Amino acid sequence: MISAAKRLDDVTTYYFARKLAEIDSMNKDGGKQVLNLGIGSPDLMPPQIVIDTLCQALSLPDAHKYQSYKGIPNLRKAFSGWYKNHFDVEVNPETQILPLIGSKEGVMHASMSFINPGDQVLVPDPGYPSYSMCTRLAGGIPIPMSLEEKLGWKPDLSKLRERDLSKVKLMWINYPNMPTGAKADVRFFTELVAFAKEYNILICHDNPYTFILNDHPLSIFNVSGAEECAIELVSLSKCYNMAGWRVGAFIGSKPYIDTIMTFKSNMDSGMFKPVQEAAAVALSLGKEWIEDLNEKYLERKEAACEIMLELDLEFDTDGAGLFVWGKIKENNLDSETLTNQILYDSRVFITPGHIFGANGDKYLRISLCSSKDDIRLALQRIRQGLITDNVENSHLNTNI
Ligand SMILES: Cc1ncc(COP(=O)(O)O)c(C=O)c1O
Repeated sequence: MISAAKRLDDVTTYYFARKLAEIDSMNKDGGKQVLNLGIGSPDLMPPQIVIDTLCQALSLPDAHKYQSYKGIPNLRKAFSGWYKNHFDVEVNPETQILPLIGSKEGVMHASMSFINPGDQVLVPDPGYPSYSMCTRLAGGIPIPMSLEEKLGWKPDLSKLRERDLSKVKLMWINYPNMPTGAKADVRFFTELVAFAKEYNILICHDNPYTFILNDHPLSIFNVSGAEECAIELVSLSKCYNMAGWRVGAFIGSKPYIDTIMTFKSNMDSGMFKPVQEAAAVALSLGKEWIEDLNEKYLERKEAACEIMLELDLEFDTDGAGLFVWGKIKENNLDSETLTNQILYDSRVFITPGHIFGANGDKYLRISLCSSKDDIRLALQRIRQGLITDNVENSHLNTNI
């Protein structure tokens, strides 16, 4: 056998890829189907007009050719209009937008485009695991940056200032925060931008949950001068139920976008045009789409909070995003033990907080990407501690 590259030594397979394989085999053991409250892949349909646009665009004469590396003008214009409408931020569609095949690929592109071997990268703990993994793949060193519960899950910038930051090149932040649901405000972003300028650090703000259960969507570019030291990732996966379509974008000043483009243009050969045309239509939808979506998530959240109460977890009802995040009160219980207990006794899968970093170990994350009925069924199963219900129609969501 030819050995794998050394850069894979410190990188593990994504937790969900492993856990879903286990759940799959549980589902084949003849028992009841596991109810999956773990994954953040929206189960609701995208807007019908977006699906119709996709179908119509399939017949365009140039639909099936390679597309431009920087996305079709229509999609870039749509992202620019979306920034103006929702954040009141002006973005030049020619030079400041780079459409992506989902924002996850953007995490890799930012890492490959800006990190040199040995550079340090501040990654939130708890936080999205790809920030650390992509840092490692790029030869960088992830430095866990504690998000403090008492500070509303923000980093303590004064504590960070006490560290040697001379090797830090990049810093990941993400608000509304996954997994905690914490929201940012302009004041915090302003402090962060000042911090980044002081230490010459590039901020990468990952913003895929911006409209979900969040009354005040914010862009890092709501802070003036942020474009000098920050780039932002946005996505259609969560806010338009289009996770499988793989559409997102980088927003930033021209030099940053050009740098990422140098890497990205060597990785892929553009996005399928019908997907881009349809995504442009999604971005042009008004606030009613978001209001309707949030009504559904609010109902689901109420049901998920009942599970939190049943499990005797402490939680914040005001969180944004697609998850409820709850703290285990018992001292000698960790998130892996508790979630495995729930999985094996009740056949309900809930995400253990430790996969988001050491600071997540006393927490559980419940996803709102299942129907209210399935969430209530999960509650019943957890109450009973064993499976007595019939869930023939329940579906296991296998998207990661
Ligand atoms: C914080 C965060 N960032 C980025 C992503 C990736 O989203 P996508 O690649 O679908 O745009 C996710 C997906 O779960 C996420 O939770």
